[in-house]
Amino acid sequence: MLECLPQVPEDSILGLAAACRADPNPRKVDLTLGVYMNEEGLCPVFDAIRLAQDALVQAERTKVYMPPAGDPDFNSGMQQLVLGLGSPALLDGRVSSIQTPGGCGALRIGAEIINAAAPGARVWVSDPTWPVHIPLLGSVGLQFATYRYYDPASHGVNFDALVEDLRAARHGDVVLLHGCCHNPCGADLSLEQWAEIADMAESQGFLPFVDIAYQGLGDGLDADAAGLRLLVERLPEVLIAASCSKNMGLYRERTGATLFVSANPASAAALRTQAQVAARRIYSMPPAHGALLAARVLQDDELNANWRNELEAMCWRINGLRTSLVSKLEQCTGRDFGFIEREKGMFSFLGLSAAQALALREQYSVYMLDSSRINVAGINGANIDYLAESVGKVLQAG
Ligand code: LMR
Repeated sequence: MLECLPQVPEDSILGLAAACRADPNPRKVDLTLGVYMNEEGLCPVFDAIRLAQDALVQAERTKVYMPPAGDPDFNSGMQQLVLGLGSPALLDGRVSSIQTPGGCGALRIGAEIINAAAPGARVWVSDPTWPVHIPLLGSVGLQFATYRYYDPASHGVNFDALVEDLRAARHGDVVLLHGCCHNPCGADLSLEQWAEIADMAESQGFLPFVDIAYQGLGDGLDADAAGLRLLVERLPEVLIAASCSKNMGLYRERTGATLFVSANPASAAALRTQAQVAARRIYSMPPAHGALLAARVLQDDELNANWRNELEAMCWRINGLRTSLVSKLEQCTGRDFGFIEREKGMFSFLGLSAAQALALREQYSVYMLDSSRINVAGINGANIDYLAESVGKVLQAG
């Protein structure tokens, strides 16, 4: 019965990461997968997470199931982290959430809720967007439309085109937005632009669904959530998918949350029950370990301060790498790469063709996505010159 299923191509991101791991070239540069890597090329465990883990291992007496909505301390901590302590929606009890297996689980639960409310609803996604968004939300039965976002010529957001396209979004539609550190392009919306999107959502009635997977890695925890918080202040309903993979380094622990900002407390509570039922259909209950660690880091003052300092240092390092990369690339190519410094978070497009990305891979073992998306956090003092020189040679070769 199962023989009819053919082999399928590898995932465009995970497949390249695996190819890089298998490459024996000692000079190889891995800029594929969106994970933070330190100067030594390692994706580190946060100090605060390690301390929380030591304490948890000592204190843990059971491995019994988590509640279906996850850990209550984790949920309240995530609501405060994403929406801010003084959030009026939070104070009014208009917010509920469910702990999910990573940010992907959060997106999937959000999609389940959308589809339950409006089967086959149309979701507007940015062009480009993270390639997994469409299969992840589409597998539930949602439909898609695209709004223009990144302009390769100016290396920035084409906001006029975005507005023109989203003018067609109506009540019953969903607009998926990247909360910060746009994946894949790194070009973010300004606060004025978020405000304009809030105006459109208000007058046209579409529902914003904000994917915030990189909070704290652009301009800081609060600044990175400012656009999303503006929507929450202005609109009766907003869906949010949050992740602790990047900003707490909990990648493999699959730790995330879906937040439901609703018109009133009864509706917020109803959505949590809907989410629990959806989760039961898919994976029953979330994994415990990562969320219990995150809850400790979010609730304990000392661990929290420790975590914030480390995250801030990562953010500074990424921004420093952006500056260094611009000058190295400009030296090696004679071209203007200043846009990389204006972009946020882990990702930027280098503006190369797929053939040039392939040449970098095959001739220099420099791995980036075919779109020329690089993970800036994969750069370090030991590989930055080689990277810039390789890009220079490939550009020169045409
Ligand atoms: C990425 O875009 O590289 C990350 O979000 C990791 C992933 O799962 O694709």
